Amino acid sequence: MLRLDKYLSDCGVGTRSEIKKLIRSGAVRVDGVNKATPDIKIDETSAIVYLNGQIIKYRKYVYLMLNKPQGYVSAVRDNYYKTVAELVPEEYKHFDVFPMGRLDIDTVGLLVLTNDGEMAHRLLSPTKHIPKKYIAEVDGRVGDSDIACFKSGMDLGDFTAKPAELRVIENTDLGCVAEVTIAEGKFHQIKRMFEKVGKKVLSLKRIQMNNLVLDETLKEGELRELTENELKLLSQENKHTKEENK
Ligand code: URA
Repeated sequence: MLRLDKYLSDCGVGTRSEIKKLIRSGAVRVDGVNKATPDIKIDETSAIVYLNGQIIKYRKYVYLMLNKPQGYVSAVRDNYYKTVAELVPEEYKHFDVFPMGRLDIDTVGLLVLTNDGEMAHRLLSPTKHIPKKYIAEVDGRVGDSDIACFKSGMDLGDFTAKPAELRVIENTDLGCVAEVTIAEGKFHQIKRMFEKVGKKVLSLKRIQMNNLVLDETLKEGELRELTENELKLLSQENKHTKEENK
């Protein structure tokens, strides 16, 4: 149960004082209630609330898929750099979303923004090894020994990376385009793994997180809400999380 003004504020209808005014002006009607006042308690799962005749559906959380462009840090505020929060359109601002995980400033691709702290915590917990898939362009040819190195779990000095999958998409004279799947998200992890096998990452794009795949129709810098099914794909238990938790 929620106060009516809190319900409308969670829905982003306005500030608490604007909402109080709206309710007092009679613009808000709640199904089955004679007189709506800011402090009446309503059941947010079943109440039907109208604002100027339009139904305002309750939701507390929002989940946005961003195709992150280069030049933005995965943070809500920063003293020097543009942040991914600046890419959030006005209609979602009141949700106070934050990035679920981090991509480097020069990494592009899939980044989920949400205000669901519990879900973010669950998916990012170090005990859950949510697989993340990237496309990397590197400056050398990738061979079987590199693939074996990634697979065996690499000692990167301050930590040993879990086995990662490296798959060549195209080896050329200039370098390689490869798909990499890692089970953690340590700082600069993929760049450091390639460095360890003598290669430099030239570009990096995340294309998948758990079973959620980047919508390639989103241009860099664009975002949209996850569908219900995509939300399930993102939070699905998978064989990695289960095995690791045994
Ligand atoms: N690994 C990196 O090196 N950078 C990223 O942004 C993500 C994974």
